Amino acid sequence: MELKLFPTGNRDVPCFLLLLNSMNLNFYCAAFQEILRQFLFTKSDYDFVFTFTGITRQAFKEFRRDLYGDEIFFTYIEKKYYTVRKKRISLKRYEIWNFLLYYLIRSLNPETVIETGVFDGITTSFLLKALKENNKGHLYSIDLPAYEKIDGSTHKMKFTTLPGGEDVGWIIPPGLRDRWTLYKGPSNLHLKPLLNKLKVIDLFLHDSLHTYENMMYEYETVWPYLRQGGILSSDDILWNPSFHDFSKKVKRSYSGKYRFGVLKK
Ligand SMILES: C[S@@+](CC[C@H](N)C(=O)[O-])C[C@H]1O[C@@H](n2cnc3c(N)ncnc32)[C@H](O)[C@@H]1O
Repeated sequence: MELKLFPTGNRDVPCFLLLLNSMNLNFYCAAFQEILRQFLFTKSDYDFVFTFTGITRQAFKEFRRDLYGDEIFFTYIEKKYYTVRKKRISLKRYEIWNFLLYYLIRSLNPETVIETGVFDGITTSFLLKALKENNKGHLYSIDLPAYEKIDGSTHKMKFTTLPGGEDVGWIIPPGLRDRWTLYKGPSNLHLKPLLNKLKVIDLFLHDSLHTYENMMYEYETVWPYLRQGGILSSDDILWNPSFHDFSKKVKRSYSGKYRFGVLKK
């Protein structure tokens, strides 16, 4: 088995982890090492976002207030989730990375954003909320609808399929939908034609099929269309080493927070 190691180039990796890195560890040990590094030396949300945007603390505070203060948004999502899924949405479900993506979009003020993997549409709602508050930009999403469990994608989720009778992105509040275009089908069908149409994009998020091949395919396909200074981000970077390998290929270091990775072109 080929040895795949996780990041060593990060400034915040302490010596003992570098030592671990020099040992002959297999992929799982390396993934564990990355998790350990992120838990022990995790950056604050502000520092994480600052790395990519140079945002001031004052501006960050204002974005955070806009997010945390939006009771209507959170109440809508929670009520809708409970009505449809018959379960309360857990705080964990919002996931730190939804907040990070919101801050990134508020700070970068992008014109064009692409995401792969929508499912219920929780992350999509955060992306669209940020675009709405910027009063600028459009989100293009690609999703192969999970009418049945999809191995390598939804199989580890609390719910592995869309709820009966509901469409992709069913939870997205109606007031956020005017900046959204959805393409249904696999990313390897829609991504390239969409990129050819858009010519240049500002931010990409992967959260679709987490096989090495598909993740690498999406990163490599998007890269030439991402503007200089644009953001390539991915959920579940610890499922396999594709994000790490890609960052080496394009010679960009990345920052990870838990399982969410971001690199800047
Ligand atoms: C992990 S879920 C996305 C969750 C969503 N981003 C969120 O956090 O709210 C993965 C989604 O990708 C979809 N998917 C699976 N394989 C795909 C593929 N090849 N291309 C596009 N979407 C795919 C699944 O149906 C599912 O909706």
